Amino acid sequence: MPSISITVDGVRYDDDVAPRTLLVHHLRIALGKVGTVVGCDTSNCGACTVLLDGVSVKSCSVLAVQADGSAVTTIEGLAAPDGTLHPVQKAFHERHALQCGFCTPGMILSAVDLISENPDPTEAEIREGIEGNLCRCTGYQNIVHAVRDAATAMREGAPADAAVAS
Ligand code: FES
Ligand code: FES
Repeated sequence: MPSISITVDGVRYDDDVAPRTLLVHHLRIALGKVGTVVGCDTSNCGACTVLLDGVSVKSCSVLAVQADGSAVTTIEGLAAPDGTLHPVQKAFHERHALQCGFCTPGMILSAVDLISENPDPTEAEIREGIEGNLCRCTGYQNIVHAVRDAATAMREGAPADAAVAS
């Protein structure tokens, strides 16, 4: 089996993996990163979204071996080490941008990537930016508000966790 080395949420992991192992299964089963969830088997829902070298990807559509040598940020690594929430997490909490929460890890990581690409997104740009993430509970309105709030906070200097860029 191939050996891979992936840094996940700031910690390096060296593992042997079967070539067909999906990154999401490697994260959840081998590394115990169960904050990353599986919501479909068609690469549609976005619940499994993580940041791979700072860019959002659906981890069910990436092989673990493809992440060899990369840095992955999951929802579990987004808050600061002292527990301070990332501005996007804080905004989701304050805007009540979740109900069951199943879509939330992926939604938040897509929003982090969106804001890093476009620090001042319009509502339309937010909706387009998160279109790969499905939510069956909220109707999206509060999610859009939360992303706007987070973008504003980050432009005004709220600290974004350094781990996101690693
Ligand atoms: Fe649905 Fe990955 S689990 S897109
Ligand atoms: Fe339930 Fe989004 S909060 S799927």
